[in-house]
Formats: sequence, C-alpha cells, structure tokens
Amino acid sequence: MKSLSSLFQAAKKVRSKAYAPYSGFKVGAALALEDGRVFLGCNVENASYGATVCAERNAFFAAVAAGGSLKPKALVLVTDPEARPCGICLQVMAEFCSPEMPVYCATPKGLGKGLQLKDLLPNPFDSRNLKRKGKKVR
Ligand code: THU
Repeated sequence: MKSLSSLFQAAKKVRSKAYAPYSGFKVGAALALEDGRVFLGCNVENASYGATVCAERNAFFAAVAAGGSLKPKALVLVTDPEARPCGICLQVMAEFCSPEMPVYCATPKGLGKGLQLKDLLPNPFDSRNLKRKGKKVR
C-alpha cells in the first residue's frame, strides 16, 4: 500500500474537489486496498438534498466499479472539523471491510488517531442476518 501519509495527502487533495454548495462541508476519502490500489471520493451534493452522496461511498463504489479483488486495507477521511463517517457509509463499509479495518478521521492539519470499523459500527446488519445469502461474486 501507499504510505499512510500519502493516503492522507490524497484524501486532502480530493476533498478540494468536493461539490458541497449547500452544506459548505467538504469531505475527502482515500481508500487503500490490499493489492496497492487507491480509490478516492469526495462528497457530491444536489439541490434535491437526498440525492447527495458522501465521499466514502463514492470511494467504495469507484473501487467496486474498477473490478478485481476488493480487500480494503485502510480508509482516510479528511474533514474540517474532524468527523466520523455517517451511518450509511459505515453500513457500506461493513459490506466490504473486515471489522478491524482502520479508519483515520483526519483534518487538513493532520492524520490523528486511527479507529477500527468495529469501534464505529460494532454490530452491523449484514448478510448473516438474511435468510437468503448473497452470492459471492469476487
Ligand atoms: N458527508 C460525507 O461526505 N461523509 C460523511 O460520512 C458524512 C457527511 C457529506 C454529505 C454532505 O455533502 C455533507 O457532508 C454534510 O452532511
């Protein structure tokens, strides 16, 4: 993987691309995969507020669309002030990540302490809750 500091720099840079005219709250996310690839996302808002998509989900969905093995290694989130990922994004992360995956909630000034996904979402709803199991596709 790229070093944590380059992941941070990438998240900081993509944050500047956020389209957030309604909230003014810009978010950048950098997702590192085990195979070394990095996917970036920023939040994209909409006049119909519910159509907004968060930075984290944009990064994860870009990784899905790129194909290949999807084994997340770490996520860096940059906001100002520091913030935790929202519940919907945590749910998306729970679909693809191990509970131990580190999530760094950073500000443009620095990286800060890493948490784990399980600290943020301890008991996610997942495929084990479904009678009909999802098919593993990759
Ligand atoms: N936002 C994210 O991009 N990620 C989160 O985890 C929380 C919220 C965005 C959505 C919206 O554009 C703005 O931050 C304010 O909610």
